[in-house]
Amino acid sequence: MRPLNRILLVAIATILLLGVGTVSARSFKAPSDDVSAGAQLYDRWYAAIGVSAPDGNMPLWGTQTTNTRSGPDTWRCSECHGWDYQGADGAYRSGSHATGFPNLMTATAGMSTDEIVATLKGSKEPAHDFSSYLDDKNLEKLARFLKEGVLDDSFAIDHVTLKTKGGNLEHGKKLYDETCVRCHGADGKLIIFRTEGVNEYLGSVANRDPYRFLHRTRFGVAGTEMPIGRELGWKPADGVDVLAYAQSLPSGMEQEPVANAGAGSEPPQKLGGPASGVFGGMLTGLGAVLGMVGISALFLFTLIVIGVLVVWALRKRQ
Ligand code: HEC
Ligand code: HEC
Repeated sequence: MRPLNRILLVAIATILLLGVGTVSARSFKAPSDDVSAGAQLYDRWYAAIGVSAPDGNMPLWGTQTTNTRSGPDTWRCSECHGWDYQGADGAYRSGSHATGFPNLMTATAGMSTDEIVATLKGSKEPAHDFSSYLDDKNLEKLARFLKEGVLDDSFAIDHVTLKTKGGNLEHGKKLYDETCVRCHGADGKLIIFRTEGVNEYLGSVANRDPYRFLHRTRFGVAGTEMPIGRELGWKPADGVDVLAYAQSLPSGMEQEPVANAGAGSEPPQKLGGPASGVFGGMLTGLGAVLGMVGISALFLFTLIVIGVLVVWALRKRQ
């Protein structure tokens, strides 16, 4: 083989290898801690394991009529049992999310992890069988989350006003500035979430759904590169302090002109799906790009090296 061909071959192989490396570095990385991993399964298990939701509605969905959502959301533990894990006794006791399904805090109090895993395999109710979608390891993570991770936030959140009870704003701001501001911005508006067709900021989520805010701040968001409070060693009260601070951030999307305001063509997105506005999309993209700067720098460096090699080889041939 002529030296030039060999160099080109090596160059192409390097580009391919780097390409594969870049793609796998971007793909989902589950939290190392089983309880946080279980919490992300509870949030949206199909996103957590990187598959699409089963077709149609979860079979038990039809046993209630108060919550009129359909499709993927009906398969989420969080949609049926609530972000406060208290089902019919908690925040979803009424309103459009109400299902009347069991309070898991009380239901699992006397159960072992094995017994919880059994209920997730349909031991009590055959239609509550997730074993064809989630393997034993994942079912165990869910059970461990329910045993060790769930917190009763009724001590921390006023269930009428949804404001924190005694959250420490100053400490919350300190934690926010240390860990959240670089992605969400000083006003919490840098990333825009689409929730069921509505644009939201961090401040809106904190005020409208503080339980979801706490769950995701403590345990992360499936498939999203984001710090996890539990892995940072945060205590339950730390999450509440950040929540108190986030509740003081701007939350009024309505008055603000947004890039895609009035765009009726977009289908509503899943709860907490990525921002879909042009602007929000760009910002989310920018975040992802910043996160990959390390890999990109390596990639660029290799490209330059290859360029130099090719020029050198061409020169040599002349
Ligand atoms: C479509 C709504 C729905 C979804 C989705 C759902 N559940 Fe349930 N869950 C129920 C209903 C209804 C029951 C009561 C029937 C039963 O005992 O299985 C129940 C019962 C349970 C129980 C047993 C409670 C008891 O009293 O013994 C546990 C634990 C549980 N669910 C956890 C989960 C977890 C974890 C997920 C996510 C993988 C999940 N559920 C998803 C509706 C749902
Ligand atoms: C590396 C960037 C990054 C950092 C740092 C970060 N986040 Fe996030 N966060 C995101 C992204 C991206 C999303 C959107 C996930 C999605 O919608 O799929 C998100 C989503 C969220 C959500 C879910 C909102 C919803 O609609 O339910 C909450 C809550 C949240 N972040 C809170 C925080 C808090 C609190 C901190 C600091 C402890 C933090 N984030 C730090 C990137 C980050």
